[in-house]
Amino acid sequence: MSAEMVQRVPTHVAGLDQRLGGGIPKGSIVIIEGGAGCMKSSLGYYILYQNAIRHQAGGLYMTLEQSRRDLEDHMEGLGMDRLVQPDLKDRLAVVDLGELRNFLTETGESDLKTDWLKSVLRQLRSYKDEMPLDIFVLDSLNALLSLHNKENPRVELFHFLRELKGMGFTTLLVSEIMEEDAQAQNAVAFLADGIIRMEARRVDEMVNLQLGIVKMRKTSHDRSFLPFIARRGHLEVVGR
Ligand SMILES: Nc1ncnc2c1ncn2[C@@H]1O[C@H](COP(=O)(O)OP(=O)(O)O)[C@@H](O)[C@H]1O
Ligand SMILES: [Mg+2]
Repeated sequence: MSAEMVQRVPTHVAGLDQRLGGGIPKGSIVIIEGGAGCMKSSLGYYILYQNAIRHQAGGLYMTLEQSRRDLEDHMEGLGMDRLVQPDLKDRLAVVDLGELRNFLTETGESDLKTDWLKSVLRQLRSYKDEMPLDIFVLDSLNALLSLHNKENPRVELFHFLRELKGMGFTTLLVSEIMEEDAQAQNAVAFLADGIIRMEARRVDEMVNLQLGIVKMRKTSHDRSFLPFIARRGHLEVVGR
């Protein structure tokens, strides 16, 4: 299939979609990676939010790191209010680890012997039965790995990603670059369809955020790292 025929999910980040030939290929698994505070979560939520508002896309944001309340407060601070459209809450669901635990208790699984990768997949299936699901954000891969706590998660990760892919929605995996997770991160990077990297760089007396597309299958993309700006509910990469 030629790149022009691929259906794409626009990010709605100004300046980014044109560099991606229209957006992220639909149905792909894309990693949003970077250091702490580089706005990885904000970018993931923004893509979900914009698609829910503009295209009536169904989105699920699973936060294993921050509480739902914390995340929603942060996103509101960035101008992404979930009350802006009356039925937006029906299309844009946010679940946190506490709610995931409740779900597991209801399905009779206890914390200690929980296989978290399987549990996430199970909950996704149950969501898919209840609401249209076009985009799924998992925040973060590190948190999931620390819960999973297996010696060698490579094989399980391979199955996890394959199952995700089989569900048909577009997945954004938030991943914080960490030495202790390097092995698993490499495995996921190899299997994922795309990698968007966020970096904080010192430029003179300022710390600037930059965004680069490291990998994007089915896409002829630009490789430059570009300044990334967030202001008043608007995200933008500034082209050269
Ligand atoms: N209202 C705001 N407007 C613009 N940027 C903000 C605002 N509030 C927080 N930030 C920035 O967002 C960063 C945190 O974003 P987040 O998406 O949680 O990062 P990450 O997930 O990569 O750790 C903060 O470090 C700060 O620089
Ligand atoms: Mg985050």
